[in-house]
Amino acid sequence: MQTLFVELGDRRYPIFIGHQLDGSKLLDQYIQSQQVMIVTNTTVAELYLAHYLKQFQMMGRTVATCILPDGEKYKDFQHLHLIFDALLEANFNRDCTVVALGGGVIGDMAGYAAASFQRGVNFIQIPTTLLSQVDSSVGGKTGINHPLGKNMIGAFKQPEAVIADMAVLDTLPDRELSAGLAEVIKYALLGDVEFLIWLEQNMSKLLDRDREVLAEAVYRCCAHKARIVANDETEKGERALLNLGHTYGHAIESYMGYGNWLHGEAVATGMVMAASLSEQLGWISTEDVARVKDVLIQANLPIASPKIPIDEFLGYMAHDKKVLNGQLRLVLLKCLGEAVITKDFEQSQLIQSIQDNLVA
Ligand code: NAD
Ligand code: GLY
Repeated sequence: MQTLFVELGDRRYPIFIGHQLDGSKLLDQYIQSQQVMIVTNTTVAELYLAHYLKQFQMMGRTVATCILPDGEKYKDFQHLHLIFDALLEANFNRDCTVVALGGGVIGDMAGYAAASFQRGVNFIQIPTTLLSQVDSSVGGKTGINHPLGKNMIGAFKQPEAVIADMAVLDTLPDRELSAGLAEVIKYALLGDVEFLIWLEQNMSKLLDRDREVLAEAVYRCCAHKARIVANDETEKGERALLNLGHTYGHAIESYMGYGNWLHGEAVATGMVMAASLSEQLGWISTEDVARVKDVLIQANLPIASPKIPIDEFLGYMAHDKKVLNGQLRLVLLKCLGEAVITKDFEQSQLIQSIQDNLVA
């Protein structure tokens, strides 16, 4: 097992990365409270709830559960409310701990519930998808979707600890594994060209779910994210770089209907569009764009968006949280392994980066 820390002063917290980790030993010191609410969904509950229930019970805690329906389309107010219902029905106090057991949808919703229940209670992340292990469980962004825009309502709420256990990835559907790899590739493109080379060399082992190789990838991504979050917790600056491909991707996700295109798939195509715009600006070469596409194809990810009318695509992009004073800013590539955030591109170039990457 490897342990990383997100250095946030007295809110410093560990990320435990390994396989077949013993949660009861690792978490005991991070859960001060007696009352523990495990939030999960129907799919993950069937696979892992009994195991974690037992671990928390072995720690002598009073455990209640809240099992939500499975899907991005349930990441909304109505289903957030079910978590508050469960907490209140179980008479949970301000010193309780909310545990997210699931992928990014559960992590984002449980985290937002923990941020707002009685103005904030403790929170633990047990991410069970690759995407949530490398990205969403670390850094404290939580929230829900609005029909007009993805992740538009939320709060920053750092967890007390994160447990990323590679063993749970055995049951993850192939398509979800690939979606997680999109976020892994994102870290390489935005800040670490050596990691890109490593990914190109190790992609088949990642797809075969080699636990050692997966753990290495999760460690490298979390180390990168932990550094950025420690410097810029609430995204006043460099944290925005973690959104490479996301502004385009959120437009695809929102237009297609939440859940029809997976978040990671949309981010993959969004990164191709960001690479295309970077090429138009003369920052990266045609060969670099081809290399971005190739590594995404290696990971079985889509590199072109469904045909979305351009006005609607731009309309969704305009809801992005990086829009400041009505001005769209995008994360683009200065070179492979170095991203910047910029508003210095022409509208015609933006449109071309979308239109050049729609399915034929
Ligand atoms: P998800 O939570 O929907 O999980 C994907 C699917 O895998 C679901 O059907 C889930 O039930 C299933 N699943 C989860 N663990 C499993 C396991 N071990 N075995 C079998 N099936 C399993 O999707 P996701 O890709 O984990 O997360 C996407 C969400 O994360 C989006 O809502 C996105 O906005 C959010 N996100 C948040 C951040 C952040 O910083 N907070 C960052 C990136 C993404
Ligand atoms: N997923 C981007 C961030 O956490 O900032």
